[in-house]
Amino acid sequence: MIDLYKNLLRSAVFNVDPETAHHLALKALSTGLLPSCAARNDPRLSLRLFDLDFPNPLGIAAGFDKNAEVVDPLFAQGFGFVEVGTVTPLAQPGNPKPRLFRLPADNAVINRFGFNNEGHAAMRARLLKRRSAGVLAVNVGANKDAADRTADYVAGIRAFADLASMFTVNISSPNTPGLRDLQARSALSDLVEKCLAARDEAADSNGRKVPVFVKIAPDLDEAAFADIVEVLGGSAVDGVIVSNTTITRDGLHDTAKAKEAGGLSGRPLFERSTIMLARMHLALGPDKPLIGVGGVDSGETAFAKIAAGASLVQLYTALVYEGLGLVGRILDHLTKECDRRGLASINDAVGIDAKAWAAKDA
Ligand code: FNR
Repeated sequence: MIDLYKNLLRSAVFNVDPETAHHLALKALSTGLLPSCAARNDPRLSLRLFDLDFPNPLGIAAGFDKNAEVVDPLFAQGFGFVEVGTVTPLAQPGNPKPRLFRLPADNAVINRFGFNNEGHAAMRARLLKRRSAGVLAVNVGANKDAADRTADYVAGIRAFADLASMFTVNISSPNTPGLRDLQARSALSDLVEKCLAARDEAADSNGRKVPVFVKIAPDLDEAAFADIVEVLGGSAVDGVIVSNTTITRDGLHDTAKAKEAGGLSGRPLFERSTIMLARMHLALGPDKPLIGVGGVDSGETAFAKIAAGASLVQLYTALVYEGLGLVGRILDHLTKECDRRGLASINDAVGIDAKAWAAKDA
């Protein structure tokens, strides 16, 4: 089948500045101009985590739909779960433009958006109108000028506890000065404790507590990694997302754009984030499921994340280069891997290559 996006649309999209192109993509999704993909959910791709049923393990990563404008259309494209946000209590404009850069030679982008978003109230209003029943992760963050950042995360948990299937506590954006400091041992332990207390208090009448994931950066030295493992491993946090964008710029072809400040995502992040994922899987064990994200751009890279230790996988940047047809291609590949390896469930592949990945040098 002709790949419409790569053959026809991509060059048109690349003639438009990246942020405008993103808004056009959201518009096209919301107006239903894009054909919906028939769901290719082989039963072997489905999984149950906590009390949540995922038709497949592939989700859209945070940052694509910051304001929950296209949740229903994203499910219609075949994603097994959708993450919205990062959302902060108050609307904020983010950093000055330009703040999003394509690096086509590297299949990468650099962004320094800085949590531009419309705030809790606007997102709540949209989520109250959603029609799809799929698994929804709400990614919460702190306003740039918050006096008490931890209080902003807690406010996010309280604001969405009745609407979110799961939460992401995002402490790893490189674009809000000082945010990554929340990954340090004592700050993280305090943040996690308060977020989990808020989550517990907000349990519904059936006692359902919304699972909480913490999203970490790929740029952690040994000591920082060990601290995170200790704090999260010893807490009731439900899982970890590995990883956010990187501030490193190793091996990029586009040396001019590489100088732009911000977080790098896409193919150059794949190896680094997958090694960290594997190390986290081995350190935390099977009781804390992981979401693998960073540079997934094919069925092979999606399967590699699972084999490295991810129960669920997400992507964002590859959509810029491959279009939404990639979703179906990845699901087809995962189904073929089940055939080829004789797996009763894709879940049986989680972590099968973790040791090999962890042994690589980042
Ligand atoms: C992101 N990402 C992101 N993550 C997050 O937790 N909150 C956010 O608001 C954003 N915003 C954002 C904007 C843009 C333009 C990009 C490209 C990325 C990070 C994203 O969720 C993911 O962790 C990384 O991009 C790595 O995955 P990919 O893009 O390599 O598949």
